[in-house]
Amino acid sequence: MDFKSIIAEKIAMSLESAYDNHDLSAEQIAQVIEIPPDTAMGDYAFPCFRLSKSLRKAPPVIADALKQNIDMALLQEVQSVKGYLNFYIDKATFAREVIASVRDQGARYGASDIGAGKTICLDYSSINIAKRFHIGHLSTTMIGNALKNIYEFLGYTTVGINHLGDWGTQFGKMVAAYKLWGDREQIEQGGVNAMVSLYVRFNEEAKSDPELAELGRHWFKKIEDGDEEALSIFNWFKEVTLQDAQRVYEKLGVRFDSYAGESFYNDKMGRVIDELREKNLLVESDGAQVVDLSDYNMPPALIQKSDGATLYMTRDLAAALYRKDAYDFDKCLYVVAYQQDLHFRQLFKVLELMGHEWSRDCEHVAFGMVSFEGEALATRSGHVVYLDDLLDKAVEKALAIIEEKSPDLENKDEVAKQVGIGAVIFFDLYNSRIKDIDFSWDRALAFEGETGPYVQYTHARSCSVLRKAGTVTAEADYTGLNTPEAQDVLRQLDRFPAVVREAAQRYEPSLITRYSVILAQAFNKFYYENRILDDDMGVRAARLELTRATRQVIAEALRLIGVGAPERM
Ligand code: ARG
Repeated sequence: MDFKSIIAEKIAMSLESAYDNHDLSAEQIAQVIEIPPDTAMGDYAFPCFRLSKSLRKAPPVIADALKQNIDMALLQEVQSVKGYLNFYIDKATFAREVIASVRDQGARYGASDIGAGKTICLDYSSINIAKRFHIGHLSTTMIGNALKNIYEFLGYTTVGINHLGDWGTQFGKMVAAYKLWGDREQIEQGGVNAMVSLYVRFNEEAKSDPELAELGRHWFKKIEDGDEEALSIFNWFKEVTLQDAQRVYEKLGVRFDSYAGESFYNDKMGRVIDELREKNLLVESDGAQVVDLSDYNMPPALIQKSDGATLYMTRDLAAALYRKDAYDFDKCLYVVAYQQDLHFRQLFKVLELMGHEWSRDCEHVAFGMVSFEGEALATRSGHVVYLDDLLDKAVEKALAIIEEKSPDLENKDEVAKQVGIGAVIFFDLYNSRIKDIDFSWDRALAFEGETGPYVQYTHARSCSVLRKAGTVTAEADYTGLNTPEAQDVLRQLDRFPAVVREAAQRYEPSLITRYSVILAQAFNKFYYENRILDDDMGVRAARLELTRATRQVIAEALRLIGVGAPERM
């Protein structure tokens, strides 16, 4: 039930009977209805100022007159205060309606079909081959995953793309290093770490041995030319990296529809360069081909080096054209750190200059940096926190807490995974994405405060209340939800669908993370201040229904951001 439209209807009817020269329709009225900042001023308020001119009356006079004729069905009270008409919805009716929508729509509560027939491409995680997955890649992975869940919930078709960093001269060096010093077993056992050591050694020795650089170029050329040996080593490096990454993705519960990375576009470069040339966009600069962007206050976009090699930009242009062709997207989102802001502005501008109107459907969803316990993550200084280790440690710590708090819990290991990993994800998605975050164990794993474990614990608590209550057959007496605490929970439940839509619109999963905390806090307040298992069976039934609705919406909110909701903790 949409209370706002119902109230607009009531105002329109009252207006009709009080004045014959007004000029507002119910829809126009609905647009000016406000939600007062303080519930003491009502659930909805209608400002009468706009009518003042056409009716030639002071706003308070109009409010008084309108009040006389309001149809009071569903309402508890209407007040005329300083030119505003304040509406108080009948509390029990509000409770009944909200609970019915949550219950009847079930897993679809908050969902929608606004995205039906539309496709959204999401480029996220996009890790680099032969590098370990470190916490710098956590945000892109989890923001992208959450956006995918959110858009699917709203009816969109989504395409999750891991645009692998699997092209570049460094791979020539890696193959060269492998040929010089590596062996199969070492890589098979050591995985990405072994590759990284080879690469580090190569760069070390290249400082005193200039021939190595030449050797690196030689092997890269071979990869480019499709030399069988070079490619098979390179592809094997890729496989090993992806196997490593897959372990992390499984822990995080993340999946992709496509792993088409940079090298996928090797044979699709000609088209980009031809199209740029045809449209007269390429100019030469120091032997390289670039697109001049000085009219837009940006440095030139580098398309092709003097030796013919293409660049990150060229591959992104090819990828955008490919995605438009393959998926005919309505939106293409790039979930990438804000450091690449210029790259994406250049990319979208070049697409626009090429005449692709859909360039405005491409968007850079930027996010801030992650540091760890106050220390920046610098690959060079050697202080790197690997995601895999971080997740294992989170599970370990969660297990220790569970052992202490609920030693009798049955599936401790499973719960520890949901809590530990959930805590890391929740922490990552709690602040608006553009803010830098400093990861801290104490803050992420606390059971109090704005954390994953706190929300999960509230969910487990609601499950436990429902288990203890067993079946209640009495009909719900919704006046049992007239308390301020219960009403607050209801208001939070009622706004869930709007929160989901806003999160999608602003590419901001944190709105849902924060919402889950606010709902959990409201429920806990209700739990402490109101007796759920009241002696009056009608009241008890209503309070249990509220508990059930809360449990459902918390679990759904957590699912959307990629966090599990254990039933016992
Ligand atoms: N592999 C890049 C990195 O780790 C991110 C790629 C982002 N996606 C894109 N289409 N450029 O920095």
